Amino acid sequence: MIFVTGGAGFIGANFVLDWLAQTNEPVVNIDNLTYAGNLENLASLNADQRHVFVRGDIGDSGLLASLLASHQPRAVLNFAAESHVDRSIHGPEDFIQTNIVGTFRLLEEVRSYWTRLDGEAKQGFRFLHVSTDEVYGSLGKQDPAFTETHRYEPNSPYSASKAASDHLVRAYHHTYGLPVLTTNCSNNYGPYHFPEKLIPLMIVNALAGKPLPVYGDGQQIRDWLYVKDHCSAIRRVLEAGKDGEVYNVGGWNEKPNIEIVNIVCALLDELQPRADGKNYREQISYVKDRPGHDRRYAIDASKLERELGWKPAETFETGIRKTVQWYLANPQWVTRVQSGAYREWTSKHYEHETIQGSAARAAA
Ligand code: NAD
Ligand code: DAU
Repeated sequence: MIFVTGGAGFIGANFVLDWLAQTNEPVVNIDNLTYAGNLENLASLNADQRHVFVRGDIGDSGLLASLLASHQPRAVLNFAAESHVDRSIHGPEDFIQTNIVGTFRLLEEVRSYWTRLDGEAKQGFRFLHVSTDEVYGSLGKQDPAFTETHRYEPNSPYSASKAASDHLVRAYHHTYGLPVLTTNCSNNYGPYHFPEKLIPLMIVNALAGKPLPVYGDGQQIRDWLYVKDHCSAIRRVLEAGKDGEVYNVGGWNEKPNIEIVNIVCALLDELQPRADGKNYREQISYVKDRPGHDRRYAIDASKLERELGWKPAETFETGIRKTVQWYLANPQWVTRVQSGAYREWTSKHYEHETIQGSAARAAA
């Protein structure tokens, strides 16, 4: 079996769902259910005994030690993090606690567990750390895309905390020999994306008749990858990645923010036109820029393709259409996420509980 941390969040939940759809290997999912963790994302695993959900913090050494000892995973995949740049600007503390201190505690417990393994179990064990392209800083228009050897230049409290966690992972490999893999990925989009991030925010605001807030001049560039392609990359790296290596993951799909917003508006015009016949673009509103806003990210994912044969399956056109369709088909998920209703229910019913094959009861 494998351990996944942060498996009730956007990428972690997509990963757990895809993993159990494609393999029979059980997952212990450790997530402390912050505002971004939502058991409704895992509703389809309601009766699935292969999914064990544990509400817990990656900084809780005692909990981690006992879970590792009792379940004996062959791999630990660390998705758990505070992930939103704007929140890190308003309040960095949680980012330091989870992304740095939490990763450190997790590494310590994993090291202690791994040290006691022997033979094939020790040889085959992997710690896979899920990270971001933001650790590399910002690119100029003509600069080549980030490779794995690009120097670290994080610019926000979020990216600085992720950079620190990457360095800890690297150090545990070099110092203790812990078998680690690190993936640095570009911007994801797709189902279950919390509507504080650009693409889901634009979809839900557009449908609600609210302004579509574009920061600054809207010309900041990101590389966008459909979340299920990120999940397939992680599976491939876990399967065949070389111990101690770093792999960049990206969609070869750079676009300025304003173009992303225009594409979302055009899809909504087609799939759910405004009642007044006007274009959703009319809701675009340029607002004050994010402080320290990185201008451009671009990922060179050729190492992953060359060495492990991974390529994204979706183009931006196919992925964004699926995404908009998913949000149109799941208005209740959006309503409950926005109202925070899922959190009240979760804290009432799942405080300190371990849930086996029934995470989705939160959706009931
Ligand atoms: P998310 O915010 O949607 O989910 C994070 C999950 O981690 C939530 O379920 C939350 O409850 C959980 N969590 C937070 N603190 C925890 C703690 N202390 N202990 C246990 N669980 C905790 O984030 P996401 O977008 O799914 O990102 C997942 C990972 O991928 C993060 O490490 C992020 O840095 C990385 N990443 C994200 C993107 C992206 O575009 N979203 C791109 C590249 C890398
Ligand atoms: O690059 C990978 C990173 O992508 C991940 O590590 C982060 O966890 C993830 O949140 C994401 O970070 P970004 O800051 O790029 O994502 P966000 O969706 O917040 O913003 C995308 C771009 O859109 C960015 O240039 C800021 C801009 N933006 C964002 C919001 C929320 C707006 O113009 N308006 C908005 O309202």
